[in-house]
Amino acid sequence: MTELTRRQFHRSAIGAAAVAALPAIARPATAPILQAREGNVRLAPEDYPETRIWGYDGTVPGPVLRARQGERMTQMFRNDLPQASTVHWHGIRIANDMDGAAGLTQPAVPPGSDFFYDFVLPDAGTYWYHPHNRTFEQMARGLYGALIVEEETGAPEVDIDEVLLLDDWRLTDKAQIAEDFGNMHDRAHAGRIGNWITVNAEGDWSRAVPRHSRMRLRLVNTANARIFSLEARGLDGWVVALDGMPLEASQPLGRITLAPAQRVDLVVDVVADEGAEAFLVSFEADGGYAIAAFPVAGTARDARLAAPGALPANPVPALGPLDTAIRTELLMEGGAMGGLRGAKLDGRSMDIRDMAAAGKAWAFNGMADMGETPLLEAGIGDTVRIVMKNDTAWSHGMHLHGHHFRQIAADGTTGPLRDTVLMGSGETVEIAFVADNPGDWLLHCHMLEHSAGGMMTWLRVS
Ligand code: C2O
Ligand code: CU
Repeated sequence: MTELTRRQFHRSAIGAAAVAALPAIARPATAPILQAREGNVRLAPEDYPETRIWGYDGTVPGPVLRARQGERMTQMFRNDLPQASTVHWHGIRIANDMDGAAGLTQPAVPPGSDFFYDFVLPDAGTYWYHPHNRTFEQMARGLYGALIVEEETGAPEVDIDEVLLLDDWRLTDKAQIAEDFGNMHDRAHAGRIGNWITVNAEGDWSRAVPRHSRMRLRLVNTANARIFSLEARGLDGWVVALDGMPLEASQPLGRITLAPAQRVDLVVDVVADEGAEAFLVSFEADGGYAIAAFPVAGTARDARLAAPGALPANPVPALGPLDTAIRTELLMEGGAMGGLRGAKLDGRSMDIRDMAAAGKAWAFNGMADMGETPLLEAGIGDTVRIVMKNDTAWSHGMHLHGHHFRQIAADGTTGPLRDTVLMGSGETVEIAFVADNPGDWLLHCHMLEHSAGGMMTWLRVS
């Protein structure tokens, strides 16, 4: 997400002209500071050294930021990293200039500088924040945190509200982060898959809970590229929200697939016996592993609570008629075993060898990285349909900035609101949304080595 050279120059020229016309923004003297810096944390077991990380406030995860729906959030981002960075507020239907997309909505913040983020939170739910410059490196080093927006009213009654950030790390045998960020193999294959899975940066995360207590679990996949496949043991309940957005009707809990950047909110009751343990289990190629444990101590009440109602809906506009919507296709090509012969990069046609030399392995509609022109332009309020065809041998988690979309099935039925959709090899997925948020917005694969390797485009709402 960094190699935005030509476009970056182009945009910053426009930016400089526009800035003069803007009124000065009042910066509250009291804005909380979010400081990106190095730190040391215990990721691995006791017999290993601590791990040097980059984190918000020097920790991983960064602080859980909490606010209420409709409130304004201010954060003074202070960059004390040795690298330029930004903060992207993933899933927030945010004002464009606060989106943190380096090279598109703002220049990256140099080391030793700061940037004042000031935005309104239109939707309740589970969101998160992370850098949007050299994201494949900065997130792999530990820069991420949760942003929780509480419902104004109508939140389900729970005893425990827990945020669980799932990650995998590529660690050396000294428990240090392997510095092979963005290597060509990862770019052209499944991305950076780690060898150490953590929940909230702990290899053995655990919390004691009473039997029959009710929990809201907010799961976020903060890994660069790993797709988590999860089940609960000793917990029973419902999926109530995806990517922050409430489901119209809660779904019974079963196998959960969580692509990079996706979130799921669960409401679960502890049904394991006292003295036993409940678990969240991650299914890997070689079996299931408990990644979070809930030892059951005491009893909250004699029987389970009644099923919760659905969460209150967020104010996302309903789709307009699909037959008159703007419709665009996005052909996704490239990667290992993909047979891509070449693509355009920075306006030049390149064969696959020149692309590889430039670190590119993928193309959207024959173009690697963002071009000068958007994938599409929409007017405010237009309904937009994008048909995405995954003509590669790999899975991709496609993320749209500034909007939530619905998947349109072949029979025309619409799925739940999401901001990231997982697409298998060979799969075609159609999404639709109302373009109600003005600005230039990224559409990219959230497997971060894929987006760095070219899977990145943008669209304009004006
Ligand atoms: Cu979570 Cu473009 O990002
Ligand atoms: Cu991808």
